[in-house]
Amino acid sequence: MKCRFLLAAALAASVALPASAIDLEVTHWWTSGGEAAAVAEFAKAFNAGGDNWVDGAIAGSGGVARPIIISRIIGGEPMGATQLNHGRQAEELIEAGLMADLTELAEKEGWKDIVNPISLLDACTVDGKIYCVPVNIHSWQWIWLSHAAYAKAGVDVPTNWDEFTASAPALRKADIVPLAMGQQSWQTSGAFGVLTVALAGPDIWLKVVKDKDVDTVMGPEYTAVFEAFGDARKLSDGANVQDWNQATNLVITGQAGAQIMGDWAQGEFQVAGQKAGVDYTCLPGLGVNKIISTGGDAFYFPVNEDPEITAAQLRMASQLISKEVQVAFNLKKGSLPIRGDVDLSTANDCMKQGLEILAAGNVLPDGNQHLSQDTSTQLEDLMVEFWNDKSITAAEVQKNYAAIIADAD
Ligand code: GAL
Repeated sequence: MKCRFLLAAALAASVALPASAIDLEVTHWWTSGGEAAAVAEFAKAFNAGGDNWVDGAIAGSGGVARPIIISRIIGGEPMGATQLNHGRQAEELIEAGLMADLTELAEKEGWKDIVNPISLLDACTVDGKIYCVPVNIHSWQWIWLSHAAYAKAGVDVPTNWDEFTASAPALRKADIVPLAMGQQSWQTSGAFGVLTVALAGPDIWLKVVKDKDVDTVMGPEYTAVFEAFGDARKLSDGANVQDWNQATNLVITGQAGAQIMGDWAQGEFQVAGQKAGVDYTCLPGLGVNKIISTGGDAFYFPVNEDPEITAAQLRMASQLISKEVQVAFNLKKGSLPIRGDVDLSTANDCMKQGLEILAAGNVLPDGNQHLSQDTSTQLEDLMVEFWNDKSITAAEVQKNYAAIIADAD
């Protein structure tokens, strides 16, 4: 009873400006140029509301940040708010009762009628209660191509994956790395997923990621993808970078022809002053089929006994889903907003393609929405080893991939 009273008091307090600014430490892994520019829009909105955003950025992307975030919450040193991906990453924290229930705010503000696609709010919902506020839609299903690199190589910018692989010799002749790939394991695993959706199709990908069907992993469609991915390994020789945004920078500077990466890469092109369609080309679904996956980010709020902190958490949640903050943040993040009732006329050509694909309903869930973090990490470790050790055959990695899917939870 006490908890509900606290929440009711916090909810009432959350709509008014606070008597005094509340500090909320916010953890996230948005440390690249584009990411920092975007998250600054969240901080600006929170501070304008009379509170104080204490930035808790953790470098190294999700693979480094997530374990730190989760162990702090479990260890009793929670932050005020944290970014995590849409999907299952917080499920154990929620089950342990460590994350604030946002249902009352969500119902008061009609999130069920706002959030599009509704699957993003479903991914925040456990046993009918809502524990996160979705803040964007990021799709992995893109390849980004450098106009400068292709001009130097003297070949047309490819319009699909096959044309890209065929352009590799010309790029090499011009001393350009065909495919930029950093060493963070999620990059390789993510690229493999995008190639699977493009070459084997979304239904086959879902049979493995959602249904955990081992026979499909060993079937002809996946066999062809493992072989194509094995052949692609040589395309990133010479990239020699670690972080995803360093790989994006190889494309921005024309040192690499292309990168398979989620559309957070757009934030980097933007910060570098590059324009879609002028300096770079984006191909959704690798130009094979126009599709987007509804991955991205949501904010969670660890439970806090202090009603003033709880009120500040609710104020933040309300701001993050608001129209003006959704536009300001997503335009800089390169992601799509989680609501369809906003004006994104200033979005660039690539974002507009994403919005059209979303409106057409050609969407896929993100792997995070079906695979546990443990399974995802195992697949990431397997695929980065395959990418870096050309002595591993496609048949070997396929067998090991099937074994992980067989045990997937
Ligand atoms: C993803 C996240 C994106 C992006 C990317 C690289 O997990 O959803 O917002 O920032 O990591 O850091």
